[in-house]
Amino acid sequence: MTDSFTPRAVLVTGGAGFIGSNFINYFMAANPGCRVVNLDILTYAGNLKNLTAVENNPNYRFVRGDICDAPLVADILAAEKIDAVVHFAAESHVDRSISGPEIFVRTNVLGTQVLLEESRKHRESGVAPEFRYLQISTDEVYGSLGPAGYFTETTPLAANSPYSASKAGGDLLVRAYHETFGLPTLNTRCSNNYGPYHFPEKLIPLMIHNIIDKKPLPVYGDGQNVRDWLHVKDHSRAVETVLKKGRSGEVYNIGGNNEWKNIDIVNLVCDLLDERLGRKPGENRELITFVKDRPGHDRRYAIDAAKIKRELGWEPSYTFDKGIAETIDWYLANQTWVAEVTSGAYREYYEKQYGGR
Ligand code: NAD
Ligand code: TYD
Repeated sequence: MTDSFTPRAVLVTGGAGFIGSNFINYFMAANPGCRVVNLDILTYAGNLKNLTAVENNPNYRFVRGDICDAPLVADILAAEKIDAVVHFAAESHVDRSISGPEIFVRTNVLGTQVLLEESRKHRESGVAPEFRYLQISTDEVYGSLGPAGYFTETTPLAANSPYSASKAGGDLLVRAYHETFGLPTLNTRCSNNYGPYHFPEKLIPLMIHNIIDKKPLPVYGDGQNVRDWLHVKDHSRAVETVLKKGRSGEVYNIGGNNEWKNIDIVNLVCDLLDERLGRKPGENRELITFVKDRPGHDRRYAIDAAKIKRELGWEPSYTFDKGIAETIDWYLANQTWVAEVTSGAYREYYEKQYGGR
């Protein structure tokens, strides 16, 4: 790989999801000369309304399809002369992976293998000499930490949930395609993201949504589990940085240096919304309900992100104070988005926008 690569045509998978759509919106604004093809099957988590800012951009194309569909992936790679794949598409929710693991293995393991195999053939065709493949992964592949220590890129993989096991399987296939076939690969592992367009099944948007509606706030177990939170725009910038400057075959951890116990984050969101909703101090905290713990619930995640800072110069720019306040304000200003997501009305948008195509 060269020191700094300027992609001309990027295949983004899962670009209608939370992080993928934030990435496309950010990346297309920052790289106006680059074509972006978004391949997304539109599961419950895919929402084209996240992409209204780019949908009429002539450099943007949406394809509704499955990453497991090898001929479709091959067609896109060849027809668009794709020189980079950024692979976000996944089943992403731990609780769903406990109630139904199969789809996680299909999408996150098999889907990754199909993309890698078609990428290998495409690169070997010589159409895109600078081709690279970027796998978006998670700190959850490293398992769980005790009260001290951090995950580094050399921490052994020790996934504990079907979700994280399927992501670890994808990451190992990425490694295998690099070692065995010489495919230029990059692999990022990021901590928990937050920000706009986050599906309200995940902790922060679920709490915001339930507080607005005065519904119970389910906190799993004792609420002392720790997560590191990164604003999705900082993640998007990190992905762009690794895509352009990362070294082939390397893994890069991405983190926010921003650890929170779940109960503290829930209390914070409650208090910020007391102010904004004109409720009396402490009122929202009364909605907190401790519920049965998630099976296999990882206790603590914490990322050592020194490598990406040292080698590529990336570090987070958001403070959590600013990021969480902006996020809460975004949800308050976009209650139609949330209502459409929770009612399922967002699914009709695809038919109106793309029906027949
Ligand atoms: P998401 O669930 O919001 O979005 C996933 C997207 O993938 C959806 O648009 C869905 O329609 C699409 N998709 C699913 N199966 C597909 C298939 N077979 N073919 C094509 N598209 C398909 O997920 P997210 O939170 O945006 O996460 C994106 C990526 O980032 C995932 O790989 C996830 O593992 C990783 N990640 C997420 C976080 C986080 O905090 N959310 C943190 C670290 C890493
Ligand atoms: P989540 O947003 O599902 O992300 P992940 O499990 O991938 O880290 O959950 C974040 C943390 O919040 C995790 O420790 C589980 C916990 N949690 C709750 O306590 N209540 C909830 O309703 C949810 C969705 C999560």
